[in-house]
Amino acid sequence: MTTTLPPTTEGTATGAVGTSRTRVEGREKITGAARYTGDIPLTGLAHGSLVLSAVARGRIRSIDDAAVRAMPGVVAVLHHHNAPRVRADYPSIMGSAPDPTVRAFQDDRVPHLGWPVALVVAETPEQARAGADALAVEYETEPHDTEFRAGRADAYTVDGVVPATVEKGDLDAQLAASAVVVDASYTTPEEHHNPMEPHTCTAYWEDGRLEVLDSNQGASWTADDLAQAFSLAPGTVRVRSEHVGGGFGSKGVRVHQIAAVMAATELRRPVRVAMTRRQMFSLAGYRSPTAQRVRLGADPDGRLRALAHTSLSQTSQVYEFVEPAGAAGRVLYEAAAHHTDARIVRLDVPTPTSMRAPGMAPGSFALESALDELAERCGVDPVELRLRNEPAVGPVSGLPFAGRSLRACFEEGARRFGWAERDPRPRLRRDGRWLLGTGVAAATFHAFAVPSTAAVTAWPDGTFTVRIAAADIGTGARTALLLIAADALGVGPEQVRVRIGDSAFGPAWLAGGSAGTSSWAWAITPAAEELRERLALGAEIPADGLTVRSDSTTALAGQTPAERHSYGAQFAEVAVDPATGEVRVRRMLGMFAAGRIVNPLTARSQLVGGMVWGISMALHEEAVRDGRTGGLVGADLAGYHVASHADVDRVEADWVDDPTPGDPVGIKGVGEIGVVGAAAAVANAVRHATGVRHRQLPIRPDRVL
Ligand code: MOS
Repeated sequence: MTTTLPPTTEGTATGAVGTSRTRVEGREKITGAARYTGDIPLTGLAHGSLVLSAVARGRIRSIDDAAVRAMPGVVAVLHHHNAPRVRADYPSIMGSAPDPTVRAFQDDRVPHLGWPVALVVAETPEQARAGADALAVEYETEPHDTEFRAGRADAYTVDGVVPATVEKGDLDAQLAASAVVVDASYTTPEEHHNPMEPHTCTAYWEDGRLEVLDSNQGASWTADDLAQAFSLAPGTVRVRSEHVGGGFGSKGVRVHQIAAVMAATELRRPVRVAMTRRQMFSLAGYRSPTAQRVRLGADPDGRLRALAHTSLSQTSQVYEFVEPAGAAGRVLYEAAAHHTDARIVRLDVPTPTSMRAPGMAPGSFALESALDELAERCGVDPVELRLRNEPAVGPVSGLPFAGRSLRACFEEGARRFGWAERDPRPRLRRDGRWLLGTGVAAATFHAFAVPSTAAVTAWPDGTFTVRIAAADIGTGARTALLLIAADALGVGPEQVRVRIGDSAFGPAWLAGGSAGTSSWAWAITPAAEELRERLALGAEIPADGLTVRSDSTTALAGQTPAERHSYGAQFAEVAVDPATGEVRVRRMLGMFAAGRIVNPLTARSQLVGGMVWGISMALHEEAVRDGRTGGLVGADLAGYHVASHADVDRVEADWVDDPTPGDPVGIKGVGEIGVVGAAAAVANAVRHATGVRHRQLPIRPDRVL
């Protein structure tokens, strides 16, 4: 890709980092020149169309593929009778075995509606689709259960990515000693992430290597998983993901990649498998519904004694995925007693997954609504209440904070939002027929970095190339890495090119956990600095370039233990029409503390995007499962309601200085924290406007009335 760096749009930073830049690949993207996975032409390409189960639980009795094999253009039908064997018993980069949903076509079991049962491969996508539609599959059905609700007796506790249960102090004693106790239950619905670009994968064999063109959040992760799933030697699988049209947690290793590799291997020709929009609703993962209970015990001045947050989420019959909704309180508030736990219930549903700010997004709705309830009960301003409960060290961990600028977020946010003029009494302000209200909530998200590798090359013409298996899922990561590399090399950003999205560049963390940019910066910076030093000492640059490689494993292992989080304060103003139940978010302000902000332009977009998602979560998003079929009602972008332009008025995001003692890279990530607390700020504003507390999302017009 040839690119010229666009001009600076704002900023006063002396280096490249901290100055706003539009994306290096922006021109390619808006002119359509950027090729996404499904756009890349290949000679002899065949197309696979997935067939999904039509029942929610049971077994496949028969698949009659003869008629489909005779259809025009059809070259293969893969299913559990003839598909190659794959494994799902290996430790993936995520630290555990993958969701066995990726073991496509291995047996006759159907654990949910929309389970992949076959792949029809044909010369054209239309022929494949026609074949998939025509495939006759018969099932032996069994009774299914997709009913998610609080109080299910079959719920149980299991550790997810964070420990399920965390306890400190004597909860019962502290609750008993509390002058004010809030005990409230909250629910959030099943929610779906549907990136603009559907999941698409093309696989082919070349010179004994498996070449994979794919849309994912981490090329080296995907390559490693595919090698393990198909028992191939590491290094024989290469995954490239130059441009990715959104991910949000959904673009890991999924069944379409497995199916594409199976078909390419069987047919010895390139095969592309793309999910349809509808298929994404059962194959791409989603956010589990949650049922949460928060108990807060406080002194009359609002100082917390006890914080208990329990949550229930659902998972599938094949994999234990936990939505850890209780985790935010573990770092946000000082209290003598803490108790949080996460439980799951197994249902005949697809496996949920990490969806933007897993745990924190639904958990913050409950916790930050409960804090608002407590503020009201104590007669303490909700901003002041939160400041009164600021901890000096991690409230449960006891670890020092690697920067915690939450107080500054609240103070600066309150100033800009005009919070001081707020009358706390509900249902007082009107604008014509609209009731007006304002609300606030805190936000936090973990910050970390994962060992990664990078290479930086100096060329005789004075330019540099960075290679790292990073993913730019639309965030502007490529541009951010360019700015980081330019500063570390001590050159202008126009002298640097960044190549990403190729597993051949070596292992690297994925675009996930809000830890992409920080992880990649930890790898790029030392390589660039060493190269700069060698050049300063007079190193010669050969015609094929001078390359320095780095691996951040050792440097990251040497980090001192600390509570690493980003923080934010979310403010919202809503107008509620009491005649129709319509809620309009008139303005939102998010003030964040997320360490070093690499590219203010794209960082702001990330934060605003998260806040818009919060509005959407508060007011619109809700996937409804029909207990009779076990499937979703309206599983498409017409039936699944999200905030659109008309729903989003003034949304501003900004940040405060956030020093990160002991962390030389200092990047905390901005991909997820924008959504955290946003729905609670809106719900708290609705309470202020109307006097009605909403503990169930979304706040639909019929619930407002
Ligand atoms: Mo994310 S939900 O860490 O891609």
